[in-house]
Amino acid sequence: MVGEEGHCVVTTDVRKRHGVHYTPVALAGFLARQALCGLAATGPITVLDPACGDGELLAAVARLRPDAELVGFDLDADAVATSRARLPGARIEQADFTEVGAALAASAFDLVITNPPYVRTQVLGGAAAARLSAKFGLRGRIDLTHPFVAMIPRLLRPGGVLGLLCSNRFLTTRAGMNVRALLGERLGVREVFDLGDTRLFEAAVLPAVVVAVNGDAEVARYASAYQIAEEAAAGDLFDALTAADDSAVRVGTRTFAVSVGTLARGEPDRPWRLTTPERERRHTDIRDRTWRVLGDLAKIRVGIKTTADPVFIREHWEELPAARVPEPELLRPLLTHEDIRAWLPPGPPRARVLYPYQDLPTRAVVDLAEHPRAAAYLGEHRERLAGRRYLTAAGREWFEIWVPQRPTLWRPPKIVFPDISPEPRFTIDRDGAVVNGDCYWISVPELASRTDEHPDDLAHLVLAVANSGFGARFYDEVCGNRLYAGRRRWITQYVGLLPLPDPTTPVAREIVRLARELAGGVDPALVAEVDELVGVAFGQPAAQVIGLSTPS
Ligand SMILES: C[S@@+](CC[C@H](N)C(=O)[O-])C[C@H]1O[C@@H](n2cnc3c(N)ncnc32)[C@H](O)[C@@H]1O
Repeated sequence: MVGEEGHCVVTTDVRKRHGVHYTPVALAGFLARQALCGLAATGPITVLDPACGDGELLAAVARLRPDAELVGFDLDADAVATSRARLPGARIEQADFTEVGAALAASAFDLVITNPPYVRTQVLGGAAAARLSAKFGLRGRIDLTHPFVAMIPRLLRPGGVLGLLCSNRFLTTRAGMNVRALLGERLGVREVFDLGDTRLFEAAVLPAVVVAVNGDAEVARYASAYQIAEEAAAGDLFDALTAADDSAVRVGTRTFAVSVGTLARGEPDRPWRLTTPERERRHTDIRDRTWRVLGDLAKIRVGIKTTADPVFIREHWEELPAARVPEPELLRPLLTHEDIRAWLPPGPPRARVLYPYQDLPTRAVVDLAEHPRAAAYLGEHRERLAGRRYLTAAGREWFEIWVPQRPTLWRPPKIVFPDISPEPRFTIDRDGAVVNGDCYWISVPELASRTDEHPDDLAHLVLAVANSGFGARFYDEVCGNRLYAGRRRWITQYVGLLPLPDPTTPVAREIVRLARELAGGVDPALVAEVDELVGVAFGQPAAQVIGLSTPS
């Protein structure tokens, strides 16, 4: 079946299982152009797409190099038939490339162009993922992209080029380490394009393009495009991505900031990021003025994960019949992302969680016999709760929360922030609420325990740096894990990198004083002052730290 732009129409189920997200024509053209630019070859070239779908990428190559010899594979019979009809003369085979790839001759291709299937471990299934990991020497959590990328270096002749379109998650996530290691160690990366939230691609993941050569590459070019609030802009996105300077472009009704620089990468366990000489100078300044990074001071924990939220979490427990409203000591206020504002202490949380643990430092469940109403309520949901077999398999009770965290750590003050938010929203909770799994938190006494600092001062220093324009910019430049519409992910891996200035300096003391004042009411002039002072603490001019480029 053929849909828009001549593509096959694919059902949602097949799409998920086999990672079917066909490349739009314009993006296919861009990928083919960039990949062919990097290829030094005059005669006819041999080109492989190991998961060719309906042949869009091969067709894009053929438009630019009509003499190219095209080879494609795909699992899907309909896609293979469409490709064959569309690309007469090409060799298109129906096969599982993870099975047949190894039988292809080494160095057989001048160009491999691919948008490999993105299928996560959960969908692949644990056994299939383990088999692929062992076969292709992969580590950690894999998706189907990883084995595809692992096979490519062997297939490229020396000087041959890979044009890869994949999820941009590999740039920043821990799970992306396989792809970063494969590209970084077995090929020479020439160009990286983080296409951000441009929606050039209908898939739920945000796309990236990588052009790499089988050989050494000098400094790799890096360009990214993310939506911003401004409206005045013109120009073509693809031109902007390959231009020498930063720019803003308008696509449809939205404007994107296109940043251009080079690829900075450290060990494969660190994110890949865009850098410029000016950024490097600034980051050196920041490092020189960093007293500690947050991750060295305290554990940054995610909130609780019940794996049965409708049972454990409610806003209106009192609406239940009285005999089944759990005892008040087991119903704890629960902070969710909706309760969190930057600076200000959270108000009373809307929801309460049934938290069946004793107030002890280690996890110990309550005796349900002593809480008959909670027992009645949980008993009513027993089938659902006991269906979570991983709990009982781990030697736990059927009525437990999957990740309850440490019960006694809820009482002392803690820094809390939502996992996903366009702007940083760090606050301090002093009311002993439990934190939900859509937020992260840092125990204030733990934070200060490895230092001589006053816990509350240190907590306010963290708040100020994290909530400042400096913090958001640092986040973007160093971690850069953004989702659609400028939403950032504030997770342990990234928040742990946040630098803190020496708390004993006068500027840090002033920052702490202002952060305390902001907890009493957010005054934009004070926020600007904190922005400026945090910049000063790290040797950054004001223009570099103020203003978050987040779409409204
Ligand atoms: C993201 S789509 C890309 C298709 C095409 N290259 C494009 O860019 O439009 C991924 C393709 O991989 C195919 N596929 C999934 N698993 C495969 C496997 N193990 N071997 C070969 N193809 C596979 C799917 O059928 C789908 O057509």
